[in-house]
Amino acid sequence: MENILEVNDLHVTFSTYGGTVKAVRGVNFYLKKGETLAIVGESGCGKSVTSNAIMRLIPDPPGKITGGRILFKGKDLTKLSDKDMRSIRGVDISMIFQDPMTALNPTLTIGTQLIEGVMQHQKLSKETATKKALEMMNLVGIPSPEERLKQYPHQFSGGMRQRIVIAIALICEPELLIADEPTTALDVTIQAQILELFEKIQEVTGVSIILITHDLGVVASIADRIAVMYAGKIIETGTKRDVFYRSEHPYTKGLLNSVPRLDLQEKELTSIDGTPPDLFSPPRGCPFVARCSYAMEVCDHIYPAATELSASHDVNCWLQDERAKKLLAVSSPVNGE
Ligand SMILES: Nc1ncnc2c1ncn2[C@@H]1O[C@H](COP(=O)(O)OP(=O)(O)O)[C@@H](O)[C@H]1O
Ligand SMILES: [Mg+2]
Repeated sequence: MENILEVNDLHVTFSTYGGTVKAVRGVNFYLKKGETLAIVGESGCGKSVTSNAIMRLIPDPPGKITGGRILFKGKDLTKLSDKDMRSIRGVDISMIFQDPMTALNPTLTIGTQLIEGVMQHQKLSKETATKKALEMMNLVGIPSPEERLKQYPHQFSGGMRQRIVIAIALICEPELLIADEPTTALDVTIQAQILELFEKIQEVTGVSIILITHDLGVVASIADRIAVMYAGKIIETGTKRDVFYRSEHPYTKGLLNSVPRLDLQEKELTSIDGTPPDLFSPPRGCPFVARCSYAMEVCDHIYPAATELSASHDVNCWLQDERAKKLLAVSSPVNGE
């Protein structure tokens, strides 16, 4: 299957008074057409910066894409003019943010907000656009859409507002949808409904989805593949099965141990001790070294290249890299094992 998106060696920095934040440090991933990729990691690891970079929404200054390529259907988005990017944003690529309230204009009806983009981009008449808006409201599960179109955002519950945001994101029929923590602001039952809605939308429209979340448990059901991010890097990628049942990175395993599981009720949940490194001066070697109970000398000094565990499964960890043994001949484990 063809890749709709390929991100190669992406670097993003922010210049601040305190120094340069290296927020994204060489991120690589791909997304196949019609697939859902979840990007998972703790708060501050660079998930939003990565997705904002794809949308070219990094505020410059202080932010800058300092390296890498973002190929959308073969076209490098980092090279496009602002004008060309504007014609892609919201049309070919749409984004949904965490807080549905900030994405909606409180002073305009839902109907106006749904149709204005599609009228402009697809040059539709108001009548055709309204018909399309009604179809979209049906698709995202909003009852009595005719009446609802005339209402304002505050007349909707949080879950219904997020459904409207999703409808707005989909009305121009984008090929790629990026959802940045789309359910984090919602309560648990509504979260599950919105995730089911993503699955349904993908079935109906074939849209490719990047789902960003700090909660590995949330993505279990709907992702095809998962990329685990830590301190500005992707440290493990695989299918849902690879990551849930065959994960090899100690950080991924730590994340999995902090996910509640119905089949292991007696097992205690553990969180990972310690905090991620400072991104002003990230460590030279593996950024997880200070929190890793398997860390070796080499981990302190050299960042591990990706090891291919299978055709679908990559991990950046010296424990999986044959070359570590040679590099270790001169040193012994720092702590543990
Ligand atoms: N406008 C900004 N100015 C300075 N630093 C920023 C800015 N936006 C993001 N960062 C930094 O980039 C890093 C990654 O942030 P982000 O991508 O938002 O994390 P998350 O994974 O929680 O979405 C963090 O260290 C954050 O402080
Ligand atoms: Mg974020």
